[in-house]
Amino acid sequence: MAILVTGGAGFIGSHTCVELLDKDYEVVVVDNLSNSSEKSIERIKEITKKDLKFYKADILDKKALKDVFEQESIDACIHFAGLKAVGESVEKPWEYYHNNISGTLNLLEVMKEYGVKDIIFSSSATVYGTPQFVPITEKCPKGQCTNPYGWTKSMLEQILIDIQAADNEYNVILLRYFNPIGAHKSGLIGEDPKGIPNNLMPYITQVAVGKLDKLGVFGDDYDTPDGTGVRDYIHVCDLAKGHVAAISKLKEKCGLKTYNLGTGVGYSVLDIIKNFEKANGVKIPYEIKARRAGDIDKCYADASLAKKELGWQAQYGIYDMCKDSFNWQIKNPNGFED
Ligand code: NAD
Ligand code: UFG
Repeated sequence: MAILVTGGAGFIGSHTCVELLDKDYEVVVVDNLSNSSEKSIERIKEITKKDLKFYKADILDKKALKDVFEQESIDACIHFAGLKAVGESVEKPWEYYHNNISGTLNLLEVMKEYGVKDIIFSSSATVYGTPQFVPITEKCPKGQCTNPYGWTKSMLEQILIDIQAADNEYNVILLRYFNPIGAHKSGLIGEDPKGIPNNLMPYITQVAVGKLDKLGVFGDDYDTPDGTGVRDYIHVCDLAKGHVAAISKLKEKCGLKTYNLGTGVGYSVLDIIKNFEKANGVKIPYEIKARRAGDIDKCYADASLAKKELGWQAQYGIYDMCKDSFNWQIKNPNGFED
């Protein structure tokens, strides 16, 4: 069974390719490398000792996509490709809507042309906006997103829902990720942000190796036990395994399904700092700063539906997440540029 993985050279995509190859799926990656490196493809092969097909192509380029479908016998698609920087999306909504929405529409049109009706989509807990309750179940109403990136996820979910309603031979799984961190145990693949990281864990690892001076903690007056923001961090390898479980679900002709992929445990920013220091024996200097616009106080999953219906549950705890994030950073201080 051949799986098309769009965005497969990226952070979550590369880890998912490893898990798919380990389970003997054929993997075809399409990525324009706008936020990744072809080296990750080589590293996937090194880890798995297996081969995969890689096409450097843009999902905005319909002809290039058609060429891939013409040459490969694609059975299902895991669609990761997209721009994901929240702050940048506020400054460049044109690019975000074009890349994420038009790109996905292109992909869906080509899939339709080639009769491929199984798709797993990378959604996000961001679609809940300020969640009406925590832990967040899939029944929690979607909310107002605070940025164009979030809206692209929310809109793309709706587009996929409408397509599945129009043709119920489609099997669509919307996976809402919470906060992926960590890296493959080998330290060969991991998150490789361009420039100064926006997200907490890559910022911490760069402080830990001395690339950045200290962490700014965005706000200590939230409605949380220690006042800092609480999130549901999930090891990227667990997240990747969630996609393999979702592929099995597609094979059952599941129709439309939506799952939260999180651990169900919330950690504050200060919890993460403490756990990182303990796991890695390093000190993370930090200072409290103002709140970051658009942040919410707490966001963590009720992940029981994925356990019940996918037979999937996160295995790694915060110790491994911190250890593996640091291991990747130490082994690759400049990401894939080393
Ligand atoms: P990433 O940037 O590492 O991976 C995305 C990949 O898509 C990159 O390799 C990039 O080069 C590629 N890409 C972007 N636009 C493309 C285009 N037009 N054509 C072809 N390739 C294109 O990001 P990630 O963290 O691995 O995220 C993967 C998916 O999961 C994204 O859709 C993201 O929005 C979603 N997601 C991520 C998080 C997170 O915190 N990392 C949380 C929720 C959802
Ligand atoms: N934080 C800091 N300092 C930093 C970076 C982050 O204190 O330098 C805090 C934030 O205020 C927040 C927590 O750390 O309380 C986590 O922030 P991240 O930026 O790592 O993650 P977010 O929860 O803001 O957002 C992430 C992804 C989104 C996705 C969302 C839910 O960036 O794309 O998780 O899946 F939508």
